[in-house]
Amino acid sequence: MPESITITDNRSGESIEVPIVSGGVDATEWRKLLPNIWFYDPAFMTTAACSSSITELDGENGILRYRGYPIEQLAEHSTYLEVAYLLLHGELPTSEQFDTWTHDVTYHTFIHENMRKRFMEGFHYDAHPMGMLVSALAALSTFYPEAKAIDDTAIRHKQIVRLIAKLPTIAACAHRFYSGMPFVYPDNNRPFTANFLNMMFNPVEWIDYDNPVLARALDVLFILHADHEQNCSTTAMRVVGSSHADPYTACSAAAAALYGPRHGGANEQVVRMLTEIGSIENVPDFVKSVKEGSGGRLQGFGHRVYKNYDPRAKIIKKTADQVFEVTGKNPLLDIALKLEEVALNDEYFTSRKLYPNVDFYSGLIYQAMAFPIDMFPVLFAIPRTSGWLAHWEELLEQDSRISRPRQLYTGEPEREYTPIAQRK
Ligand code: CMC
Repeated sequence: MPESITITDNRSGESIEVPIVSGGVDATEWRKLLPNIWFYDPAFMTTAACSSSITELDGENGILRYRGYPIEQLAEHSTYLEVAYLLLHGELPTSEQFDTWTHDVTYHTFIHENMRKRFMEGFHYDAHPMGMLVSALAALSTFYPEAKAIDDTAIRHKQIVRLIAKLPTIAACAHRFYSGMPFVYPDNNRPFTANFLNMMFNPVEWIDYDNPVLARALDVLFILHADHEQNCSTTAMRVVGSSHADPYTACSAAAAALYGPRHGGANEQVVRMLTEIGSIENVPDFVKSVKEGSGGRLQGFGHRVYKNYDPRAKIIKKTADQVFEVTGKNPLLDIALKLEEVALNDEYFTSRKLYPNVDFYSGLIYQAMAFPIDMFPVLFAIPRTSGWLAHWEELLEQDSRISRPRQLYTGEPEREYTPIAQRK
């Protein structure tokens, strides 16, 4: 028996049967059967806006898989560049494919000198690096006008490689500019993450930027952040991509969506919150203020999809221990651990299924590695670019129509224009 639901239209008394497809109602069928009756669904709470074969997320059971591979296995055995390949191509690379991919990405790490000198250095001296990144991504489209040929798969591939390769360079460039340090060119003898750390920190003596443990920890964080199905920024990527904008412009829109404190900016808010709490003794009072509504939200807790422990948060906790062995413990860690313990034993949080998310511990690691807080969302954008691009390619291959939702109009009915002199 095919699954379906029966809907009775009480205006006419007519009943119709709507098929259930993959656990939901297919809007194409709905439209045929019930023309002009549509859903009001702000924030897409119950709307699947696309089909996708990239990332599987089961929020009830705390499961996250890229192309079928559990995130735990990828974090343990893979590298960010291999994961980027997997997301984009659907399969793990053979050694030959991986060598070519690594070579291509490494070859494209440099940015045009005008991009740096004229564009990046044109920002105000204290420009936020995420604002610089969002703008730089859009500006890249003016350097590569061929990117508009989105139907040409070879051209498409080249822009994908360029974007993945140049993100760390632009990110480090933004950081160096705003901290008044000279730009460090990519050193293509170093692996992807080590190269980024070098561009960020060389020659600062107080950071062990050459330490392989730190490079590996950052690589793991990049793996964990590479994709997360239809989150706010990926949705922005798909919506802008559906208008057939070039990938640089679409990535810029996605990065803009990531900038907000409810999304990629949350790790920054966690560190600010922990700093404000100040010491373990203040944790119970802070939790009380969150519950009463006066203390704001518990940053780094809760998720639209996860109603269980975010599997990325578990891996990050382990990574944090490895990093702190090199850098020394972040003094905020004890407050974070206490906060987690108190919240996980509190009915307010358990009844709402609020658990630590990916951002709860990632900020502590970034801070211990000497990344300034303003750089945190940029660190999220670097790996998420591969996820955005995988979704962009998928969207183009699906020959998707332009995104254009309906709205419920709640404004004035028709009225006559009043000349300005007669208005009160
Ligand atoms: N602290 C305290 N209460 C919370 C929190 C929180 N962090 N998150 C949700 N709630 C409460 C909320 O007040 C509401 O309670 P009630 O039913 O009594 O009104 C209930 O839980 C449901 O919350 P919601 O706002 O309807 O949930 P949402 O799915 O719209 O929001 C969220 C998800 C992530 C925006 C939210 O949990 C939040 O603001 N968390 C803090 C910010 C954060 O950590 N963001 C990073 C998300 S993970 C990275 C990423 O993928 O972007």
